[in-house]
Amino acid sequence: MPQTMIEKPPQPTVAESKPFALAPDKKHVLHVGCGPKRADKLHVAFRGPDWVEVRLDVDRRVAPDIVGSMVDLHPWILDATFDAVWSSHNLEHLDSHEVPKALAEFVRILKPGGFALITCPDLGEIASQIANGRIDEELYVSPGGPVTALDVVFGFGRSIQAGNKFMRHNTGFTDSRLGRLLIEAGFSEVRVAKGRQYDLWALAMMREFRLEDQKELGALF
Ligand SMILES: C[S@@+](CC[C@H](N)C(=O)[O-])C[C@H]1O[C@@H](n2cnc3c(N)ncnc32)[C@H](O)[C@@H]1O
Repeated sequence: MPQTMIEKPPQPTVAESKPFALAPDKKHVLHVGCGPKRADKLHVAFRGPDWVEVRLDVDRRVAPDIVGSMVDLHPWILDATFDAVWSSHNLEHLDSHEVPKALAEFVRILKPGGFALITCPDLGEIASQIANGRIDEELYVSPGGPVTALDVVFGFGRSIQAGNKFMRHNTGFTDSRLGRLLIEAGFSEVRVAKGRQYDLWALAMMREFRLEDQKELGALF
């Protein structure tokens, strides 16, 4: 009988699956789907001396602090221990049925005053581009090279061609879908804004979050 190959994210070993040690008197941001370490990949909201970045990625090659999937953070992260989650262009790499699980994990690990800052492609804008005939022409230039509507829908073609299966896109978001899923996951309040590069930005707030304490976010939302 033919075998079906199912690619699963790496499972933590016993040594890896212990709670991540947090620094006392610091604020911690979980940078999910972080990719290779680069200072400019951390949003400015988290660059102050009071923040500690904890990098998590399913791809061991990017040398994250935690190798694992954002769909289940239990092996490493206790309830209500992080101040923020930063998610830039990775929710669309999940299968659709995994998105509510990942968002529920964000809620579980955040403190009552915490928040998640999320950016991802705006599939509504991309659909308009495709409807107007711009399916494979350059929409903008990313650090990795020119990006087309096809790259946004299916994942960045150059990375996939190079063999990086983690770069495939498996779901997508409009502003209303992203906002609805975040509320359904348990956030108290959510604001979603459209970005300048066919992207969406969401600020998902836990019940005791105060926007006036996060000046960098005020301009975005
Ligand atoms: C397009 S890159 C984005 C990297 C970086 N955040 C940025 O904005 O440049 C997507 C990243 O998400 C990671 N990723 C994909 N699925 C994941 C999952 N289930 N859990 C954690 N990271 C995942 C990939 O390995 C990759 O590093």
